[in-house]
Amino acid sequence: MKKILIDTDCGVDDAVAIMIALASSELNVLGLTTVNGNVGVEQVTENVLRLLPSLGRGDIPVFRGASRPLIGQPHHAEGVHGRNGLGDVELDDAGKPLEDTGAPEGMLRLARENPGLSLIALGPLTNVAIALNLYPELEELIGEIVSMGGAIGKGNVTPYAEFNYYADPESVQVVLESKVPLTVVPWDAAVKMTHSEEEICALGFGDSKAGKLLLDMHRPLFSYIEKVYGNRAAMFPDPLTMAYVVNPNIATQVLAGDLTMELADTPRRGASVHRQGNRLELVMEIDKAGFQSILLRIRNLT
Ligand code: RIB
Ligand code: CA
Repeated sequence: MKKILIDTDCGVDDAVAIMIALASSELNVLGLTTVNGNVGVEQVTENVLRLLPSLGRGDIPVFRGASRPLIGQPHHAEGVHGRNGLGDVELDDAGKPLEDTGAPEGMLRLARENPGLSLIALGPLTNVAIALNLYPELEELIGEIVSMGGAIGKGNVTPYAEFNYYADPESVQVVLESKVPLTVVPWDAAVKMTHSEEEICALGFGDSKAGKLLLDMHRPLFSYIEKVYGNRAAMFPDPLTMAYVVNPNIATQVLAGDLTMELADTPRRGASVHRQGNRLELVMEIDKAGFQSILLRIRNLT
């Protein structure tokens, strides 16, 4: 069983990724840390504090993290994730308390208690960078970082940059310069695997609570994409990343290499340029059937 800590900017696809993790017996979710991204960190934190109890996992500790990137202004994506980040689905407030230490301290506590844990980063890497800077021992304690982010081909925020890495490119550079083994699932893998609303409905979630939540949360996203691109089809970057964590064998194309982040204040800021090297692995493609079978596990969540 793989012990994981999830760092999230809980938007709609993060929520599905979290559901996949909770529904997978291969994973033991030790805790969640929240970070500014799809929406502000207060809203992200509220989303996680409500999502976990709604899935029967109010026992998992939640630590609030960074409200803004290392450099520059916070970026959000309400147009994609809705005003509240969950497609404007209102989850019940179960009154789950927030941990009284911040995300970096939460990462340190869980890593000391569970040396070798996997850190699954579904948002900007701000918390990870701060934690590595504050607590250098984390370079030895964290077994691996699996990060959804970056784009080798076309980006999704600018033609060059993907949202998570665009929102805080300096934090990506800090992680790249660390020694922690790193796997990146870039936007390129998500773009290769779109699902129409009909496809999702036909997958067979039945009347499961989690299946209904997935569809309800993604309705504004489908509408946004329909408005921009003319068809109700979506990408699922964070769920893809979590499915890969559950079973790395669903990856059908993996590249070794390194990334150079564009940090200058130009139109290319936030671009992640792939180059030769052995710093990391890039998961460039994932098998659709393998992903769907893992995604369907969320039906079993109560
Ligand atoms: O670019 C997609 C990524 O940015 C996903 O993680 C999404 O949730 C947002 O954080
Ligand atoms: Ca995310």
